[in-house]
Amino acid sequence: MKGIVFNLLEEVVSTAYGDAAWDQMLDAADLDGAYTSLGSYSDEEIFALVKVASQTLSLPEADVLRWFGRQAMPLLAKRYPAFFATHDDARGFLLTLNNIIHPEVRKLYPGARPPVFDFDTSRTDLLAIGYNSSRRLCALAEGFMHGVSDYYSQPLHVVQVQCMHQGADRCIFHVQPPLP
Ligand code: HEM
Repeated sequence: MKGIVFNLLEEVVSTAYGDAAWDQMLDAADLDGAYTSLGSYSDEEIFALVKVASQTLSLPEADVLRWFGRQAMPLLAKRYPAFFATHDDARGFLLTLNNIIHPEVRKLYPGARPPVFDFDTSRTDLLAIGYNSSRRLCALAEGFMHGVSDYYSQPLHVVQVQCMHQGADRCIFHVQPPLP
């Protein structure tokens, strides 16, 4: 996993709980925490940090990942405003994830291995988003989706209808505006 993801986690944790909390997490996970944005680090390190946060906060790991994703999106919007500015709504933005945003990320961060998304746009009231990654961080993806909904001030229901953790070949989310 690229260091930028660890940098975002550090910023989100430090903002919510203070710098000392991040240092304590690193100690508990037995990591030195010298993450540079372009560096590549073992996926096990992010899993270990999420595990420590989950134990410390008495929250399931999936909740930690969802929280992290949601809080990280405004930081990504600050760093990469161009990806957001070209859209008026969450649907338009999300639809560029696989053909613009993450391919661009691959150029900016050599060695990056972002997840693969697919989209079913056959319904106008509902966007079905498929997520596939050997890291199985679908909860992080869901948190990012909520962050995108916050960014565009557009309330969205996100329901996961299929999950790799339950043996599916990929995860599927249904994303739709709340019913009137
Ligand atoms: C400006 C927008 C975004 C940027 C710059 C960005 C960038 C990145 C980067 C650098 C990584 C690390 C890849 C690696 O280390 O191999 C990553 C991973 C990831 N991204 Fe994005 N991303 C953006 C938006 C999103 C959105 C909107 C979603 C979901 C809806 C998303 C879902 C994920 C997930 C779940 C991962 C974790 C890796 C995995 O699951 O295998 N990203 N992204």
